[in-house]
Parts: sequence; structure tokens; C-alpha cells
Amino acid sequence: MTGLQPLRLFVAVGTLLASLGGAHAAGDAEEGHRLALLWCANCHVVDDAQATASADVPPFTAIANSEALTTESLSVFLADPHPVMPDMDLSRSEIADIVAYIESLKSDGAD
Ligand code: HEC
Repeated sequence: MTGLQPLRLFVAVGTLLASLGGAHAAGDAEEGHRLALLWCANCHVVDDAQATASADVPPFTAIANSEALTTESLSVFLADPHPVMPDMDLSRSEIADIVAYIESLKSDGAD
């Protein structure tokens, strides 16, 4: 099946580019974790190592497991954040990273 060759080449090139660390298209969860600790941890519990944050602010695990929140709604929300949140002027790649991190906290349907 020679028809599959272009696709395989495309995948190979994509993997190569991803491994070069250039593009952030899909979001980098590790970078998102770092950004969350820096910018979100004042108010949100952003990982298991963190004991407490503000009361009445949903921890990131709760956000990750909320059915109402999708990759898209999270991205839209972070581009135009909640009123109580300081204007952080997140770039699109920062948003993608943070969303990737939050989604990595999703429990695999076990709960
Ligand atoms: C100054 C405190 C504060 C900071 C800093 C903050 N948040 Fe929030 N966040 C809140 C509060 C309070 C709520 C719940 C009330 C609301 O939705 O407005 C919330 C809710 C959310 C929600 C849930 C929205 C929903 O529809 O359920 C998300 C997602 C979120 N924050 C992401 C973030 C991210 C990502 C950061 C870091 C870039 C961040 N927040 C930084 C206070 C903060």
C-alpha cells in the first residue's frame, strides 16, 4: 500500500519536530505545571504536593475532572479569565501548556 507512505513520512517529520522542542501546538504539560506553580498556586491547589490554597477556589484536580470543562472551554476561559484572577496576559502557548497540565491531572475514569 504505497498510499500510506506520505502519511508515514508526515508522522515521522512531526515526531522529529516535536522532539526538537520547537512547537507548542499541543501544549507541554510539564511547562504548564511550572507555570501553574508560578501563577496559579496562590489561589488554586495545583498539585498533590501542595496542601492548601484559598478556600472556595477549586483545586486543579477538581477542574480536570469536571465534565463541564473541555480543552476548548479551558482555553477560552484562560484567554479571558475569571474576574478575581489578576490579568496574567497568558500567551496562547502558555495557555496550551497549562491546559495540557490540568488535563494530565484527570483521573482515568477510575473515580
Ligand atoms: C487571585 C486568585 C486566583 C488566581 C491567581 C488564579 N485563580 Fe483560577 N479561580 C479563582 C477563583 C476564586 C475561582 C472560582 C470562581 C470563579 O470561577 O470565578 C477560580 C476558578 C478557576 C477555574 C474554573 C473555572 C470554571 O468555570 O469552573 C479555572 C479553570 C481556573 N480558575 C484556572 C486558573 C489558572 C490556570 C490560573 C493560573 C494561570 C488561575 N486560575 C489563577 C481564583 C484564582
